[in-house]
Amino acid sequence: MKLLIINGPNLNLLGKREKSIYGESSFEDYYNRLKKDFPKIDFEYYQSNVEGELINKLHEVGFNYDAIIMNAGAYTHTSIGIADAIAGIETPVIEVHISNVYAREEYRHQSLMAKNCIGVIAGMGLNSYQLAVQHFLSVED
Ligand code: DQA
Repeated sequence: MKLLIINGPNLNLLGKREKSIYGESSFEDYYNRLKKDFPKIDFEYYQSNVEGELINKLHEVGFNYDAIIMNAGAYTHTSIGIADAIAGIETPVIEVHISNVYAREEYRHQSLMAKNCIGVIAGMGLNSYQLAVQHFLSVED
């Protein structure tokens, strides 16, 4: 299974940024553990702080990958472009969040992309990503 993890803006600062919300681990450390835990999956990782680059990546992989896990960061709440890109591709996307966005500011309660995703996992810390991986594995042909 070819699975791409896409992280949006500011997620390159994990481990340094607002540690009480997002934890102490860098995404690179977590990603290396994830690859070890799921050796059968062909993982790829992409991060950008730029909305259009995230859209380009969705277009690039969205007709040939099996699965996408996307944490669009703040663009979750604002980007019609990312929502439309997810609607326009064939690869199923799971939206993930590290924090429980529903327990935070009201502007984080809305996701423009959620309705175009197969599901949403939020609030489980970095485990949110591995729960999404497990879902894709459980529905694999
Ligand atoms: C986030 C939640 C967003 O509201 C925020 O803008 C982020 C990270 C999360 O993973 O909890 O950058 O997507």
